[in-house]
Amino acid sequence: MNRKYRKTLIAGNWKMNKTPSETKDFMVNFKAIMPKGRWCDIALCVPAVDIPAAVRAMRETRVGIGAENCNANPSGAYTGEIAANMLVDAGCKYVILGHSERRAMGETDKEVNAKVLAAIEAGLIPIVCCGESLEQRESGVTDEWITMQIKLALQGVPEEKIRRLVIAYEPIWAIGTGRTATPEQAEAVCEHIRTVVRKLYGSKNARATTILYGGSMNDKNAYELLAQPDIDGGLIGGASLVPEKFVKIIEAANQPTA
Ligand code: PGA
Repeated sequence: MNRKYRKTLIAGNWKMNKTPSETKDFMVNFKAIMPKGRWCDIALCVPAVDIPAAVRAMRETRVGIGAENCNANPSGAYTGEIAANMLVDAGCKYVILGHSERRAMGETDKEVNAKVLAAIEAGLIPIVCCGESLEQRESGVTDEWITMQIKLALQGVPEEKIRRLVIAYEPIWAIGTGRTATPEQAEAVCEHIRTVVRKLYGSKNARATTILYGGSMNDKNAYELLAQPDIDGGLIGGASLVPEKFVKIIEAANQPTA
């Protein structure tokens, strides 16, 4: 982290977990133990049907609610889809885009890019995900793969908007597996991502960009991961479903930074 130049963000990704009633219960419990300090931003990205309950419960707090996907089109004949402006109207601040689980369902880099542009246009903060498979890591092509994913996702994003965007590095082999990247592995790729942003948008913008790590981050390993200079927060799946665990990760972000 580096609080001097950029924001720290601890973001939950609930994936396909919790009903609206369970969301309400979570929020009551979470609010009761939520740290008062403001050392980081906090987000909870939840299933679309849970958004109203989450927004209602967090209205008076500083927790931003997010979605886990959006459609690139503003409206129209896209049965089952949700547009970025609908998420804004429902009270969302963030949207996760290009998660590897969605890419595995067929989402392409081109679609991710179109969604990023639509989300920015609507005023949402996109949390743009990238990450390599185990095979790619073992073949030594991680940096090249990440460069490609970032360049394609950011195509057409104007310079004045780049600071409104968050990037999440999530190695596929670490997601939901309990096998976290070591702080050194995670830092190396997050630093590489900052270099890619620097080449595209200059050093000031790169320095101001929030880059998260995600993949089995939990209350035990968060402190060490967040101590890395280029890891500005976390995108947390499993551990964000339990208020006590999520709070511990938020507390781990309360440490001195460069
Ligand atoms: P995990 O998921 O923390 O359960 O590994 C992270 C994510 O996929 O965003």
